[in-house]
Amino acid sequence: MTDNNKIATLTVNGETYELPMYSPTAGPDVIDIRKLYAQAGVFTYDPGFTSTAACDSTITFIDGDKGELLHRGYPIDQLAGKSHYLEVCYLLLYGELPTVDELEDFESRVTHHTMVHEQMMNFFRGFRRDAHPMAIITGVIGAMSAFYHDSLDINDEWQREVASIRMIAKMPTIVAMAFKYTVGQPFVYPRNDLDYASNFLRMCFSVPCEEYEVNPILARAMDRIFTLHADHEQNASTSTVRLASSSGANPFACIAAGVACLWGPAHGGANQACLEMLREIGTVDRIPEFIARAKDRDDPFRLMGFGHRVYKNTDPRATVLKQSADEVLELLGVEDNELLQVAKELEKVALNDPYFIEKKLFPNVDFYSGIILEAMGFPTSMFTPIFALSRTVGWISQWKEMIADPQLKIGRPRQLYHGETNRNYTDIETR
Ligand code: CMC
Repeated sequence: MTDNNKIATLTVNGETYELPMYSPTAGPDVIDIRKLYAQAGVFTYDPGFTSTAACDSTITFIDGDKGELLHRGYPIDQLAGKSHYLEVCYLLLYGELPTVDELEDFESRVTHHTMVHEQMMNFFRGFRRDAHPMAIITGVIGAMSAFYHDSLDINDEWQREVASIRMIAKMPTIVAMAFKYTVGQPFVYPRNDLDYASNFLRMCFSVPCEEYEVNPILARAMDRIFTLHADHEQNASTSTVRLASSSGANPFACIAAGVACLWGPAHGGANQACLEMLREIGTVDRIPEFIARAKDRDDPFRLMGFGHRVYKNTDPRATVLKQSADEVLELLGVEDNELLQVAKELEKVALNDPYFIEKKLFPNVDFYSGIILEAMGFPTSMFTPIFALSRTVGWISQWKEMIADPQLKIGRPRQLYHGETNRNYTDIETR
């Protein structure tokens, strides 16, 4: 945060107050209102945090008007094109791209933490087979604090590091186990000679009765999906992780809170909802009907995979994924995939419609990811778990940054209270 010597003045009930301002390295200036209540006796009101910076961060920057997403300054399209997921994880966690030796050491640390405690198998087996994998994952991540007692002390830097590596390493194993459990197949142990994405695909799709060869092009596409979802600044689930950890809660409890928040259809659950919507539309001739519904104020239907709180031009992740969808479907020989045709036509119609133009609604990351994941063989219920897997590094990086911040304070929003004021208790007989 740079002090730019700028001051904002605010007049409340005839009194004028001076508020310090800061200039970030990118993005709009920020007014510091921390002392406002003490000085002026008023709160600010911002449900949905549309104008509130809740933290000081150096990890990810989004310019919504330009459609730009930077991790530690590097544009997402360059990272998705030239890097791979674990390299991006290193960048997010430690601030710089790794050297060859640093990357080798990091990959070795991650791959040597991929197994989960054997006792956890029993925990999985307590769930119903028809449970949504997100329900299982939320529970299992929360339960990690009961299995890994030696990485719970958030005041110990080494334990924080071990917890971070454990989360990144074990998440693919846990997500694959949740998948195997819900389809009634045996769990598959991780293989440390495989790269991160190939290992995940193998844990999901191999069975003990036959050999499974990971297709390198599909592994690359999987890795790119992980990379594109790795972090996204102060979104709802990341803010949830930060709020949970502001109380000093252990890292596994905080990530479980993030997973739970991600599940909602306005956030990570949108990829499942989007594919279900494309299926419901079914054929291109039904698109006008759904566009009309999305525009109808009396109909709660929204075009899933469209719109974003921050992006008002284009979602750069969607641009990369659209290209990836074409490549993957061609590789699998399903380029005439009906859902892809519906998606492309829907995008074309919406982008030319005055309603969507005026409200600056564009396809977001969830619009094309589901088509790729379905073509790879994942059921829709696995889309949000794969998002959670990918975002784990973002949650962990933001969590680590927050714990190390000397300004750390428990998160405690205020409220605009419109309830009853103090009144006397009435006995039940006289109510
Ligand atoms: N379809 C139709 N209308 C929409 C849509 C949509 N997908 N999104 C926003 N609008 C309209 C909305 O009705 C509102 O209209 P009005 O001003 O007339 O009331 C206007 O656009 C602004 O919408 P908002 O809900 O105030 O905007 P927001 O910033 O609070 O919401 C959003 C952002 C992503 C929740 C929303 O666009 C949405 O619900 N999209 C569909 C769900 C989705 O794809 N979510 C994934 C987001 S990206 C990945 C992630 O974050 O996990």
